[in-house]
Amino acid sequence: MPKGLLEGKTGVILGVANARSIAWACAKAFQEHGATLIFNYLPEPLEKRVRKLLASDMPDALAYQCDVSKDEEITSFFENVRKHTDKIDFVIHSLAYAERDDLNNPFIQTPRKNFALALDISAYSLVAIAREAEPMMSEGGSIVTMTYLGAERVVPNYNVMGVAKAALESSARYLAHELGPKGVRVNCISAGPLKTLAASAISGMRSINKLIEEGAPLRRNIDTSDVGKTALYLVSDLASGVTGQTIYVDAGYSAMGVPVLPE
Ligand SMILES: NC(=O)c1ccc[n+]([C@@H]2O[C@H](COP(=O)([O-])OP(=O)(O)OC[C@H]3O[C@@H](n4cnc5c(N)ncnc54)[C@H](O)[C@@H]3O)[C@@H](O)[C@H]2O)c1
Repeated sequence: MPKGLLEGKTGVILGVANARSIAWACAKAFQEHGATLIFNYLPEPLEKRVRKLLASDMPDALAYQCDVSKDEEITSFFENVRKHTDKIDFVIHSLAYAERDDLNNPFIQTPRKNFALALDISAYSLVAIAREAEPMMSEGGSIVTMTYLGAERVVPNYNVMGVAKAALESSARYLAHELGPKGVRVNCISAGPLKTLAASAISGMRSINKLIEEGAPLRRNIDTSDVGKTALYLVSDLASGVTGQTIYVDAGYSAMGVPVLPE
């Protein structure tokens, strides 16, 4: 692959918790291609982890606090970004949240408050972030968010997160429509299951991983670098004509109508 696809470009990466985060794999791919990166973190103990990771691998990167459930933190995050640059080229929105109980109990029992919380952090935040980012994308830009098959089909235990991801995917399409005339593209990556902190809250992931290994067209699970490479494509000029799409990075699992059955 040619190096330097993102030379001279600056991007915001939201959602690094640790080295296993999908957002981190995106950041690594972008760093290799010459991008300047600005990260967010949540308050301690998460801040320390992110700062440690950056100090060892990306010492020049900047990082500021941004809890996306708080409008004032989104505003102050972008104020901090503007202290360093007037223009950004891309945003990776790679974050989600639901109460752990709601990923174990029956979906029908989801309390109103928890339903609202999951949709607020996991879906509405894309809209709020896009609103702040778009004015800084004076030369066009690319916004990428992370979703999962549980948005469109039932994945047992994914529950309210599936509903939040459906709202996220739809929000991405509406944003693509509104921001397209300004040259800003908005796309989703639908990633196969990955062993990250967020995924550890969902029961039954181990059996899903086995099903994919045995039954996805590529006969393997993906790793976060598979997602990082697709994100690189989407934020680069290679994807200049792509917006409003959900791209599957799932070893082809979503193409199957039924799982491969044992002989
Ligand atoms: N791991 C998987 O199997 C998988 C599959 C498909 C999609 N995804 C999606 O990918 C994205 C990244 O998840 P991941 O798997 O890398 O796990 P992760 O735990 O590494 O990342 C989730 C991030 O969300 C952040 N976050 C949670 N609440 C927040 C808030 N209020 N404000 C700001 N940030 C907040 C966390 O700090 C963390 O950095 C999520 O949207 C997830 O739903 C994950």
